[in-house]
Amino acid sequence: MNEHSAPFAGPASGKLFCFGLGYTCSRLAARLTDKDWQVGGTTRSGRMHDGWDAGDTIEMHVFSGKEPINGVAEACAGVTHIIASIPPDEDGDPALRFHLSVLRALPNLTWVGYLSTPAVYGDRAGAFVHEDDAPNPGSARGTRRLAAERAWVSAFEDTDVSVQIFRLSGIYGPGRSAIDQLRSGKARIIDKPGQVFNRIHVDDIGTILTASMQRPNHGRIYNVADDEACPSGDVIRYAAALLGMDPPEPIPFDSAELSPMARSFYSECKRLDTARFKSELGVELAYPTYREGLRSLLDDA
Ligand SMILES: NC(=O)c1ccc[n+]([C@@H]2O[C@H](COP(=O)([O-])OP(=O)(O)OC[C@H]3O[C@@H](n4cnc5c(N)ncnc54)[C@H](OP(=O)(O)O)[C@@H]3O)[C@@H](O)[C@H]2O)c1
Repeated sequence: MNEHSAPFAGPASGKLFCFGLGYTCSRLAARLTDKDWQVGGTTRSGRMHDGWDAGDTIEMHVFSGKEPINGVAEACAGVTHIIASIPPDEDGDPALRFHLSVLRALPNLTWVGYLSTPAVYGDRAGAFVHEDDAPNPGSARGTRRLAAERAWVSAFEDTDVSVQIFRLSGIYGPGRSAIDQLRSGKARIIDKPGQVFNRIHVDDIGTILTASMQRPNHGRIYNVADDEACPSGDVIRYAAALLGMDPPEPIPFDSAELSPMARSFYSECKRLDTARFKSELGVELAYPTYREGLRSLLDDA
């Protein structure tokens, strides 16, 4: 689970702390600890997820979102970079709620990355959406995200710390893809005519984050997505063909059993403009579409 092949464009060393060392941050942590980086972070259990071995290299802390991290000043001592990866709740961003003054006082901190979502744009009826387009969330989820983005930027407004916002499209990669869904019998094709969205390979996210560490730009927003928005059925069918399996029958959106989160996701449709991270951060995607991404997952399996 810790192998990775995308190019590394970031600083040679540093100390990263991740609020929410989940899928994306764990994958990046593995790349950084291969370099001269120290990494620490939180989960609600204080343990890394199944399949990840923190070993001695990653310092784990418990953060439930309901009370501060025990010994947060020591946990964050020497931290140069922070990634905020915990979704906001009804009361805002959990990490900021409890740790704002400690974080603002960190003497070595230079860069913060906030992992957000395109839900802040709301529905765009399939049109391309650019980072300079005014956000217009159509869901409580999107509204909370927008507030959290703004809270992180304004928390460091009067400091030398640079806060960047990354609006991530559908994340996939090792252990979390259409290939895994098909193999476990959980793949579904939700049929909603005209509905498309972008995806992004988890290692391309890591590359974009580390490239941004090299080129801080306070308040800058980046869409983080591949080059081809498409219906979810295209991805499942492509993965099924790679596996030599029959794809599942499509389920009409209106009759599909979906979580509130999934229903809210499918009720919006947009294509993300991805020119900015390429031109400003110099990143070329290792997996420009789901096709390269899925093929590499199959090759590495
Ligand atoms: N998945 C996607 O396709 C997608 C798309 C766009 C944006 N995003 C957002 O981008 C970020 C990174 O995504 P990801 O898939 O890598 O995330 P992930 O694997 O779900 O990791 C999220 C981390 O936040 C922690 N967390 C969640 N709720 C918490 C709470 N209330 N209090 C304290 N900790 C909490 C989790 O703790 P545990 O480890 O204990 O669960 C986990 O470590 C997330 O904010 C996600 O919502 C995801």
